Amino acid sequence: MEAPIKAPTPGAGGCGTAWWQSGTVYQIYPRSFQDTDGDGVGDLRGITARLDYLAWLGVDAVWISPFYRSPMADFGYDVADYCAVDPLFGTLADFDALISEAHRRKLKVILDFVPNHSSIAHPWFTESRASRMSAKRDWYIWRDPGPDGGPPNNWLSNFGGPAWTRDEATGQYYYHAFLPEQPDLNWRNPEVRAAMHDALRFWLARGVDGFRVDVIWHLIKDEGFRDNPQNPDFQPHQAGINRFHQVYSCDRPEVLDIIAGMRAVLRAYGERVLIGEIYLPIERLVTYYGPGLTGADLPFNFQLIQTPWRAEAVAALVAEYEAALPEGGWPNWVLGNHDQPRIAARVGEAQARIAAMLLLTLRGTPTLYYGDEIGLGHVPVPPERAQDPWGRNEPGHGRDPERTPMQWEDAPNAGFTAGTPWLPLTGDANRRNVDELRDDSRSILTLYRRLLSLRRDHSALSVGAWRGLALPPDLAAEVFAYERIADGETLRIVLNFSNQEWSVPLDEGGPWQILLSTHSGRAGDRVERQLRLEPDEGVILGPPGR
Ligand code: GLC
Repeated sequence: MEAPIKAPTPGAGGCGTAWWQSGTVYQIYPRSFQDTDGDGVGDLRGITARLDYLAWLGVDAVWISPFYRSPMADFGYDVADYCAVDPLFGTLADFDALISEAHRRKLKVILDFVPNHSSIAHPWFTESRASRMSAKRDWYIWRDPGPDGGPPNNWLSNFGGPAWTRDEATGQYYYHAFLPEQPDLNWRNPEVRAAMHDALRFWLARGVDGFRVDVIWHLIKDEGFRDNPQNPDFQPHQAGINRFHQVYSCDRPEVLDIIAGMRAVLRAYGERVLIGEIYLPIERLVTYYGPGLTGADLPFNFQLIQTPWRAEAVAALVAEYEAALPEGGWPNWVLGNHDQPRIAARVGEAQARIAAMLLLTLRGTPTLYYGDEIGLGHVPVPPERAQDPWGRNEPGHGRDPERTPMQWEDAPNAGFTAGTPWLPLTGDANRRNVDELRDDSRSILTLYRRLLSLRRDHSALSVGAWRGLALPPDLAAEVFAYERIADGETLRIVLNFSNQEWSVPLDEGGPWQILLSTHSGRAGDRVERQLRLEPDEGVILGPPGR
């Protein structure tokens, strides 16, 4: 275990913060970013070809969802070789080119690491399942049948059905928190830890700047494999996994030691970031910073995705999260990812602009999901084109609508592919694309770019303190206001979550000037005592005369 860190790690620029604290992360789902070989699926060369766009947009790091060798049962989250690029996405040489081109543009590269489970096609699993006596038997989780001859306990798969599959040849069951094609590795086995640490080192030596670790809270299971308790509040519309509280199958205390081990591997390579995917309530989530901050640098905070889109609820969430953070723990915020309905689909186009301003003005590292910056919404996917295995197992839970191709220009398939795209595009792709929106001062893309640039220019926004502002009750129900403060500068952010006009009293700290509004034409306006907000409008106020 390494020594506790009390203060943020100093960054190379000497500004006192690490790049992953002041910077912004952009998630790329590689199947859908840019295809260069006409097979309808994006690839690594496509990402390299679009790095200039990302630099222009103003993000600091890309996180790329898995491109390892895989049979693609879960689109790459089923890894058959942790140290190889799948031919669908290119070659290791393509990856090396990507990372050097990214670094040339001062963009960091974060990989997706999937250590909880491998593919059923991984040679480790082939060897493990070959016999009960196999040297790698204990690399996976094998159990005898329960007393009735059925599965060893009541644990369910996150993708529907039981989490145990019987292997006829050896008469035992193996555990899989997801698909049967994704057997869980046994992280209690030191050989597994060592092999996984080696995989991390393989990529670290190639220059990657960090990892987003898939389902990190799942890594260790209850040693006694006790049954999970029933969830009395289960509703039939929910995914089957919610029938039980996942008390024993994940979020076990021993996981923190595993994470500290991974963190120590990363730290030996300098300032690299460890991000953990964690779907847990705030009080559990913050324990993943680890004792003495030896855990994840950024335990992914998905609370904005899960909280009702109302000013009061979001204000309460931000205050609760800020208060729950351990000393020195750096916050982070996420609005969407490849597993969740798109923000514009959930809150609508007008509020998607408020969401952008919120994400990029809260305290903590923001993660943007590709395509949100052009306002991609729900893209209907006809049943015959459905791809996601979860949606096939449990209709209604498919994740295809949030994984559709990026839209670049007014060209066939919006410039994504010269072939047939693996998922459909939006009906308005000839207008909703980067080329059309980049020169439009009112577009959501311009708003994202301005927000990112403002964040870079004002340390108050990137690393400053956060303070919620009290509003009269009728206003607080619809408007969320807060300040960001650093280096003697105070910025005030006021967000209208409603589609009504409001007048917000600014009783202290003024006069102000509008630095940016979600609505065009107001930047530069001075505001004295009352701020008039249009429906669905958000503004960032700063000191006048800048
Ligand atoms: C994570 C990934 C998701 C994947 C699952 C299993 O939740 O984000 O896409 O299906 O893990 O690996």
